[in-house]
Amino acid sequence: MPSGRAHVACFPTADALMTDAAGRFVSVAAQSVRDNGRFAVALAGGSTPRGLYELLATPAYADRIDWQRTHVFWGDERCVPPDDPASNYRLARATLLDRVAIPDENVHRIRGEDAPDDAAAAYERELRLVLDTPDGPPSVGPGRRLDLVLLGMGSNAHTASLFPGLAAVRERKRWVMAEHVVDVAGWRITLTPPVLNAAAQVLFLVAGADKAATLRRVLAGPTNADVLPAQAIAPGEGTLTWLVDTAAAAALEAKGERPWR
Ligand code: 6PG
Repeated sequence: MPSGRAHVACFPTADALMTDAAGRFVSVAAQSVRDNGRFAVALAGGSTPRGLYELLATPAYADRIDWQRTHVFWGDERCVPPDDPASNYRLARATLLDRVAIPDENVHRIRGEDAPDDAAAAYERELRLVLDTPDGPPSVGPGRRLDLVLLGMGSNAHTASLFPGLAAVRERKRWVMAEHVVDVAGWRITLTPPVLNAAAQVLFLVAGADKAATLRRVLAGPTNADVLPAQAIAPGEGTLTWLVDTAAAAALEAKGERPWR
């Protein structure tokens, strides 16, 4: 079990999980604007968060978020053009950002169409600028860190694009790295553990039976982030919450390991 204050909440369905996540998103956004005059969030890629983004775009949630003071980043991106079906930016654009009044300049996408190392360097510069940390390690000061990071987890325990065995999992200085990932036969750009772990709140969204065996290893097994990169996420000054559905929690349940109660 990774260090840090991890809280696990288990929901009967993925829909119930996304409803809870949407409520948390709105709450953190409001608190961040009250405290710091701004809400900086890093969105997750993959398919799991689609339901959350669609929910956040409905008036019941969108009307409670100050989009003028919201800055959107991504935890990772595939090295593809922004209109590519594989693009994490495209998913968030189509399901959320095109449906709310967020200023274009507040959407900080990773330029997946550019040379990977150039795109990673440019994204780090942009993130550092918004977080007012031009150089050095990430700050945990209010208004100078990501207020919320949304993460998914692959069935091989990768998160963002921190894949097993990659140098990015062990990176301690750079905030953003580009690496070729054999597992997906392509280049990826990812935030690294230092900047993810400086966040005020990190929220994992894990649903589906295909994640059950891995979720148990990550939450209840020995810590080895090189093999289980999701274990590299342990915010030092922030909170770590896992929102899981019962299908993803089945292996934990079967072993009587119920970290949610
Ligand atoms: C990506 C994501 C990645 C994702 C996991 C889970 O770019 O693919 O950032 O970390 O969260 O692969 O993906 P699913 O939600 O599709 O299972």
